[in-house]
Amino acid sequence: MKGVNAGVAPVTYGSGDRPPRGDYGRANSDYTCEQNHAQYTPADHDTYRRLYARQVQQLPGLACAEFIRAVQQLGAPDRIPHFDAISGRLFKATGWQIVGVPGLIPEEAFFALLAERKFPVTDWMRKPEEFDYVVEPDVFHDLFGHVPLLFDPTFADYMQAYGAGGMKASRLDACELLARLYWYTVEFGLIATPQGLRAYGAGVLSSAGELRHSVGSIQPRRVAFDLRRLMRSRYRIDTFQATYFVIDSFQQLFEATAPDFTPVYREVRDAIAAHGEIEAGAVLPGEREFAV
Ligand code: PHE
Ligand code: CO
Repeated sequence: MKGVNAGVAPVTYGSGDRPPRGDYGRANSDYTCEQNHAQYTPADHDTYRRLYARQVQQLPGLACAEFIRAVQQLGAPDRIPHFDAISGRLFKATGWQIVGVPGLIPEEAFFALLAERKFPVTDWMRKPEEFDYVVEPDVFHDLFGHVPLLFDPTFADYMQAYGAGGMKASRLDACELLARLYWYTVEFGLIATPQGLRAYGAGVLSSAGELRHSVGSIQPRRVAFDLRRLMRSRYRIDTFQATYFVIDSFQQLFEATAPDFTPVYREVRDAIAAHGEIEAGAVLPGEREFAV
C-alpha cells in the first residue's frame, strides 16, 4: 500500500525535537520504500565514494575480522550500490534482506522488520557539508556500518532475536532499556580478539573519528559486557561514547541475550530505583576495564 503515511513523519525514539528528514509519503504501510536509485546525483555518488575510501583504509587493526571480510559484499566502492544486488548476496549467505526506508521509522515498525530478517536502510545520502557528521542515519551509515555483519550467521541471528525482543519490550514498556542494548552492541560494540580489541558496532565503523577513539584512545572506559549493568547505563548521543562494552564473541552475545527479558527488565528497574542509573563514563567499584 502506498501513501498511507500521508507524508507525515513518524514519531521516532531518541530522535530529538526535529521531525526526521525524508519523504514518508512514498513509504508503504510497513515504512519500506523503493530505493529510487535514479534520484542520486553525481555529488551523492561522490560523497559515498569518499566516505567509503576514508573508512575502509582505517579498518585493518580496528575493525573485527568478520566485518573486514564482509565489507566487499557491498560491491563497488565508487557508487551508491543498488540495495537489490546486496540483498541477493545477503539472502544467500544468511537469509537476510535489506529494504529501503525514507529515514528513521517508528520502533515497532523497525522491530517488526528485523524479526522478519529485513534490515531497513535509509536511502538518502547526507549533503557534502555533512561529510564528517550527520545527525540522522543516512545510506552510508546504514549500508557500510550495518550490512557487513549481517553476513555473519551468529550476528544475523542476534539481530533477528533483537527484533522479536523489541516487539515484546513494547508490550512491557521496556523499550528504553532495550534501546541501550542496541546502542552499546549494534551501534558501539567492541569485541576482544586474540589480536586485541576490535570494533563491530556500526556507529563506530561508519565514523571517521570514533573508530580510532573507541579502539585506541585512553579516554573512554571499556568494560566487559554484562546485560544488567548495560541496561542501567546511560549513553551519549552528541559526542564520542565515554563507555564501551566489550564482548568475547558473537556467540557470547547471542547466548547472554537469549533468555526471556521479562524478569531482567524487572531486576534492572529495581536496581535503578535502588542505586540509580550509571552515568556514561562511570566505572563501578571492582569492575575490570580492558586495556588498550
Ligand atoms: N531474550 C530477549 C527477550 O526475551 C530477546 C532479545 C534477544 C532481545 C536478543 C535482544 C537481543 O526479550
Ligand atoms: Co545505526
